[in-house]
Amino acid sequence: AALDAKIKAKGKVYYGNIIDRNTINDGTIQNILNTEFGAITAENSWKWDSIEPSRGNFQFGNADSIANWATSRGKLIRGHTLVWHSQLPGWVNSVNDRNTLTQVITNHINQVAGRYRGRVYAWDVVNEVLEDNGNWRNSVFYRVLGEEFVHLAFRTARTADPDAKLYINDYNLDYAGPKIDNTLALVQRLRTAGTPIDGIGTQAHLVVGRIAAFDSQLQRLGATGLDVAITELDIRIPKPVDQAKLQQQQRDYNTVTASCVNLPQCVGITIWGVSDRYSWVDSTFPSDDAPLLWDDSNRRKIAYDGVDQAL
Ligand code: XIL
Repeated sequence: AALDAKIKAKGKVYYGNIIDRNTINDGTIQNILNTEFGAITAENSWKWDSIEPSRGNFQFGNADSIANWATSRGKLIRGHTLVWHSQLPGWVNSVNDRNTLTQVITNHINQVAGRYRGRVYAWDVVNEVLEDNGNWRNSVFYRVLGEEFVHLAFRTARTADPDAKLYINDYNLDYAGPKIDNTLALVQRLRTAGTPIDGIGTQAHLVVGRIAAFDSQLQRLGATGLDVAITELDIRIPKPVDQAKLQQQQRDYNTVTASCVNLPQCVGITIWGVSDRYSWVDSTFPSDDAPLLWDDSNRRKIAYDGVDQAL
């Protein structure tokens, strides 16, 4: 049975995956997405460099294709992402005064979140704002505006798309340390200031056999009382891939899925890709491989059973 139907029967909102220009015309991938998954994130086409490559020049063609694909099939959409230091066009990086950058952020969010107003389940309003050591990331946003850029982004997103859930999203929230500590502290400051935030997204780009802390850290996110989502799950295998590691991957997918199922605040899981054929891991982590539930030939792996058995 479909993963999405099964997780909904457990009281969750969705089991999701990604789509983009490289997969939207692959019939096998489309069929898997249609059958198994209930929510969609655009892997790249909703990012700043895709949508606003130069100031005020909004290009919605690819973003709209994905929105229409999802809407016409009854899939939820996670909007990813409004303010992020990466895949950010150069012209934004060269803004160096507060007024201009405030206008630039406000306009980008108004245009993007406004265009899809009422059609997006949740927005990753800000992505990866902290470093692993818990310090602020040295982005143009923080350099010019300080922490205010985060408050600005959430306030603007709430006005532009009032019914969407608004998330802070980051990676390496899977283990104890300064990054999750300071993420939780930032969330607390946002709430104290009355800044509208609804959820915390943990990307969960994981490595097989190294997920021992995942459940306890997810519970810390849930203890805020905000919604929690696993937003970019994949569990990569250090090469060479062998049967024992694939079995460990099955167990790890089972554990992570169960962690969300067992946490009342966890609304859903998005896996960052359908098949190993199209995963970002190949180019980003060349010594790792095979992070997903379907293999390079789009055949279902035992990792799928790990997920299924948790539902
Ligand atoms: C990745 C995509 O998967 C790649 O295709 C792209 O080249 C780089 O970005 N954290 C995020 C995602 O929030 O947007 C990233 O996606 C993976 C890490």
